[in-house]
Amino acid sequence: MSQSWSAGYVTDIAYIEGFYVQQAPIRMALAGLLGNVAVDLPQPDDEACYVELGCGVGIGALLIAASNPRWKVVAIDYNPAHIAIANGLARNARIGNIEFLEADLAELADSAVGAAIPTADFVSMHGLWSWVSPAVRTGIVRFLARKTRPGALVHISYNALPAWQGGIALQRIVYEAGMRAGGRSDKRADAGMALARDLKQAEARYFTESSLTRELLDSIQGMSREYLSHEYMNSHWSPAFHADVVAAMAEAKLDWAASANPLENFPELLLTIEQRKLMDRYSDPVMRELIKDSCLQRPLRHDVYVRGARRIGNAERDAAIARLTLTPVVPPEELETTLHVPVGTAEMSDALKKIMTAAVRGPATIADLLALEPEHSNAPEVVGVLVGTHQCQVALRADGEQPDCANRLNRLLASRIKSVADARTSGLACARLGTGLTAPPILQFIAGRLLAGDTEANAEDWLETLRPTIRPEKLDTVRKVIHTTVEQRVPILRQLQIVPELN
Ligand SMILES: C[S@@+](CC[C@H](N)C(=O)[O-])C[C@H]1O[C@@H](n2cnc3c(N)ncnc32)[C@H](O)[C@@H]1O
Repeated sequence: MSQSWSAGYVTDIAYIEGFYVQQAPIRMALAGLLGNVAVDLPQPDDEACYVELGCGVGIGALLIAASNPRWKVVAIDYNPAHIAIANGLARNARIGNIEFLEADLAELADSAVGAAIPTADFVSMHGLWSWVSPAVRTGIVRFLARKTRPGALVHISYNALPAWQGGIALQRIVYEAGMRAGGRSDKRADAGMALARDLKQAEARYFTESSLTRELLDSIQGMSREYLSHEYMNSHWSPAFHADVVAAMAEAKLDWAASANPLENFPELLLTIEQRKLMDRYSDPVMRELIKDSCLQRPLRHDVYVRGARRIGNAERDAAIARLTLTPVVPPEELETTLHVPVGTAEMSDALKKIMTAAVRGPATIADLLALEPEHSNAPEVVGVLVGTHQCQVALRADGEQPDCANRLNRLLASRIKSVADARTSGLACARLGTGLTAPPILQFIAGRLLAGDTEANAEDWLETLRPTIRPEKLDTVRKVIHTTVEQRVPILRQLQIVPELN
């Protein structure tokens, strides 16, 4: 399976398509603010540069490029199969402001190709850090040191300790058994998983004692083999402590700002009073995060770093957050005012409920929302809860037209959906969000039809198009899903200009 250039990472089977909202520039900026760090957001007509490291087949980078046509997007991966797929999509959708580079991150920083990459305002690396060799991690830090501008925001996700502690041996068992089996990485992953399941069945002590391992083995059942190969079959896979990633990033003058998952920045929602007291013994953020990570089960961290953190006080932070515009991404019918967090379930205060109810009705600045309940002056909480529960997103641009390139990409991605059973969840490019709107296949399909000139009145035609892929007993369910999507989700697409507004 291993090729000479792979350095122990899986290269014989392409990775799955994916879109992760934590990679969005506005999401990085929000994390900065929640971490009391000043952020400079490019204005609508500013040129900016967004770089993705380890971009896989490029869906996330394409959505960013199509949503920000004045920006330059550079997306890098060393697997030529990934770059070929990504380039094909860029070409077919005619996305002109993106460059996919086939390059090895172990060497990129010191190469002529690396030197030609513009200095980045935003960098994102999802699913890269804990899956690659130490030499690649060193190369990544060198690249970040050379290619991020002062004030740049960097998103990094990785498998985190101590949450992964109990799963380390599972990866090793799957990997070692897999490497001794023949064939492509997915076949090897199957063989490794089979041994792990047999060991569990035989009540091997590790499997009876590690609840994480049992959970992982159960969850693996429905997962794609491409994903499992890239997750388990890399020779240098190693989960990391936050403190160690902080130390590595410091070499590139990058300071940790906050979690890209907003709710994770609110200890009062995550920890018990006793746990918070222990955390509050320390002001040092690294110690505080170590305590948080030991209290929570947080196996995948999404963090935002900034090159040269300019710390701001709460008043300045709140004023900056108040200027942000929240835009709903769920219909009012789906408003959820009960919060499910590790310490339990919490019902929102009446004031917050009123604000949330207004927020899911239409775009509004945080300042406008707070004005509805002057007693409730907690701007971080409003944005943290609404974005953290995936009910709203922060708009990168409060208004402005959807560019043609975004429509072209959305049409292209939609045209590939031939079946309701399509398992991909991707995004729809959106200039107002400056990133994708997370969209299940059926919503993508419908957006594609609306962009092709259909209207909601064509819902039954769409069912006919999809009918060959629907089992007869499922037909009514799919019809209902289509009609509910039309009633509840399409208005959001129209509000975000992903599909044209009705005259
Ligand atoms: C788990 S995948 C994540 C892909 C993408 N970020 C996503 O989330 O869909 C990791 C990616 O890193 C790439 N990669 C691994 N080692 C690399 C290296 N040395 N240089 C550049 N890319 C590398 C792989 O080819 C793969 O596409």
